[in-house]
Amino acid sequence: MNINVVNQLNMFDETAANQLLLQLKKKPNSAIAFATGSTPIGMYKKLVAWFRNGDIDFSQIQAFNLDEFADLDIESPNSFFSFLKRNLYNSVNIEPSHIHPIKNTEASVKACSNYEKEINSHGGIDLAILGIGLNGHIGYNEPGSDFDSLTHLVQLSSQTIEANSNMFGSYEETPKLGITMGIRTIMNSRKILLMARGEEKAKIVHRALYGSISKDIPASILQLHSNMVVVLDRKAAKYLKETA
Ligand code: PGA
Repeated sequence: MNINVVNQLNMFDETAANQLLLQLKKKPNSAIAFATGSTPIGMYKKLVAWFRNGDIDFSQIQAFNLDEFADLDIESPNSFFSFLKRNLYNSVNIEPSHIHPIKNTEASVKACSNYEKEINSHGGIDLAILGIGLNGHIGYNEPGSDFDSLTHLVQLSSQTIEANSNMFGSYEETPKLGITMGIRTIMNSRKILLMARGEEKAKIVHRALYGSISKDIPASILQLHSNMVVVLDRKAAKYLKETA
């Protein structure tokens, strides 16, 4: 585990974006699992800026969604697919045929197995970009998720629905179901980039990286990944000193 604690606020996004740059230099046709959420937005901005400057080329990548709402049209502005289009895909040279949204209109079981097939047909995920939820979720693998899971349907936890509700106006209007790459899908990725910023993430980051590996904290399984880079701001790394 390679932990980067970034002291300067403006270097967080650049440090994370650099991981993707390195990946694409090594393998221009990498399959990437892209996360949504507030954490990677700055990294995506940085990647767009580098693209406009001619410093990075997305033309060969295969772009996958880490997760998606299951009970929301993927063309809705609040879908994770729309988020990725808005924050990255529409602003760089990703081939439209290389973009792989989770097609949640298919019956859920079929959508999940089809997504696994789609990932496998591109040789598996080379780099999975992950945030971490306050409850330790990765993608939408909520506490209690099976470590052996592939892409699957999930009932979102009330904490997650609450956290999402600001986008939808109220708890009632917020989607209650997700489709997510499973923990095995994530762990099978050749490389993982885990990002967290802000003091509210400090306890869960410490628990996930140094606590016992348990289904209660899905991110704790990442301790067993042999090629993981963690990018934290100083606040999210607050409790790491004791154990580092
Ligand atoms: P955040 O979400 O980036 O908005 O904090 C992370 C997550 O829930 O995985």
